[in-house]
Amino acid sequence: MKGIILAGGTGSRLFPCTAVTNKHLLPVFNKPMIYYPLRTLVKAGLTDIMIVSGKEHADHFKKLFNNNPDFPDINFNFAVQKDPGGIAQALGLARDFVKNEKIIVILGDNIFEDDISGPVIEFQKQEKGAKIFLKKVPDPERFGVAILKNEKIIEIEEKPLSPKSDLAVTGLYMYDQQVWDVISSLQPSGRGELEITDVNNFYVRQGTMTYEILCHSWTDAGTFASLLRANLRAAMIEDFDLKLLIKEIYGDEIEFKK
Ligand code: G1P
Repeated sequence: MKGIILAGGTGSRLFPCTAVTNKHLLPVFNKPMIYYPLRTLVKAGLTDIMIVSGKEHADHFKKLFNNNPDFPDINFNFAVQKDPGGIAQALGLARDFVKNEKIIVILGDNIFEDDISGPVIEFQKQEKGAKIFLKKVPDPERFGVAILKNEKIIEIEEKPLSPKSDLAVTGLYMYDQQVWDVISSLQPSGRGELEITDVNNFYVRQGTMTYEILCHSWTDAGTFASLLRANLRAAMIEDFDLKLLIKEIYGDEIEFKK
């Protein structure tokens, strides 16, 4: 299977930090943000990976990943999204790279702590359709939200004002070859973008959408609050002594439970 990392967009929610750099190159603790979704794919055994980014920063990604000793066995490919037109439009640019294989798509600002090797194997066996990954969150209105009935997804709503569940659709998607025709048939949404949620709802209606609920922590890093959360999680994973640092900053205002 081939992997695609979507790293375009304007990063407007992180302005002015994204005024001259790409969001996915901002640091998350001690690495560029995009390293985290890349590692999720690499850990699951993928070696052919395409990075789709906007034209202003395409060369930065090439410079970062060509002959990068952190990823010696990865065959990197690059595609450029001329104008930001949504996640599904960016994904459409990977069609020639993928040819007839199934794909795993991950958003460049999503940080997963689950190992997805098992679901990758399961999806390889899945005859047809797609697979998505859900996570219970306190603020579902920020995400695509999955509505379940009898343990089956019956609909996904994109950033609903009144979410009908607290299960966010995370930025990790597995698709079969139908995805290219689905993208070609999409119409832009109210915000003028080709929405990945419309792609997912095609598979939901077809009855071929499967899902997993993530066991470990997950966050996006596209807002200042979630970027801070991503930094703190990444520091914890790297065994950095976060408690000591927080004690230094906040003194006795904070009590840690044993
Ligand atoms: C996108 C998707 C949304 C998904 C989210 C995950 O939203 O449109 O369905 O839940 O990624 O991070 P964005 O954050 O790009 O607005």
